[in-house]
Amino acid sequence: MSKETTQISELKVPESLKETNSDRSWDIKNSYIHYFHSGTYDKRYPCPNRRTMDIVFGNADLSKHILDYGCGNGRYTIPLLRNTAAQISVYDTCDFAVKQLNERVQSIGLSDRINNLTVENLFDSKEKYDLILGLFGVLSHINKRDSRVQLLKKLFTQLKEEGGLIISVPNSIRRFPVLQAKYALYRKKGIAGIASEHGDVKYERKLGGKKTEFYYHLYNTSRLLSEIKQAGFTTEIITAESILPESQVVRSDLKTILDKYLCRLLPAKLGYGLLVVARKKKE
Ligand SMILES: C[S@@+](CC[C@H](N)C(=O)[O-])C[C@H]1O[C@@H](n2cnc3c(N)ncnc32)[C@H](O)[C@@H]1O
Repeated sequence: MSKETTQISELKVPESLKETNSDRSWDIKNSYIHYFHSGTYDKRYPCPNRRTMDIVFGNADLSKHILDYGCGNGRYTIPLLRNTAAQISVYDTCDFAVKQLNERVQSIGLSDRINNLTVENLFDSKEKYDLILGLFGVLSHINKRDSRVQLLKKLFTQLKEEGGLIISVPNSIRRFPVLQAKYALYRKKGIAGIASEHGDVKYERKLGGKKTEFYYHLYNTSRLLSEIKQAGFTTEIITAESILPESQVVRSDLKTILDKYLCRLLPAKLGYGLLVVARKKKE
């Protein structure tokens, strides 16, 4: 067993993970602790999506300082550390994922270029960012449109002029149709709980034999572009993050190639996920 695997397996899942969620709330931290701790996240997404990574590299080559917001355990942070000279700040609500990320970064000897942010100092950076990432559904885990726009506005203030934002989110056309219909009905009856806005769902994943709940806001292209615009950004590119499901694309070289062509052929609105490159334009 590698040193990295030993350290990770010694980490404990808090007792509170055993609590069940009510319909009105979502225990985001514990759901993701369970996702990462069970090893399911790494099995489903063992590496970055190569096309997304290329888009990120294309915007990162001259970057001195990058923020990976909702970094998870480093699927995009680590290749960025390896392939750019940038200083990378990371933040995620899941401490367990950040700990895994830091162990991985330490094992490759690149800790000097990583800066761990906390909820207290997240928006205090004196040096502004050239590029901010919010990849693979981070924004969709935030309940209520106003809160998501608030976050985007704060990220906007943290960017340098002409700095870039790259985010990707799940597409309502492709995800959870039955749950979307169920929660639309619940909203009519006034019993939707946390899933109170159009596009909201709660879904379950079986992680290490345990059912774990997640909240998602599913976007369409116009809702996504509207939130980005309201926060002050100018959208440069909207494209499919993938056409095939992400977990298939990142586990098969053949599907990676096939998906690249499909993304070129098909419009963003058919994507499994939607990806936007936006910019803070000079006033
Ligand atoms: C699907 S994972 C994506 C992780 C990583 N970006 C990747 O592509 O592998 C979503 C991540 O968003 C984090 N997250 C959810 N809500 C967040 C919030 N409000 N602020 C920061 N991170 C959040 C979760 O803990 C989780 O690590």
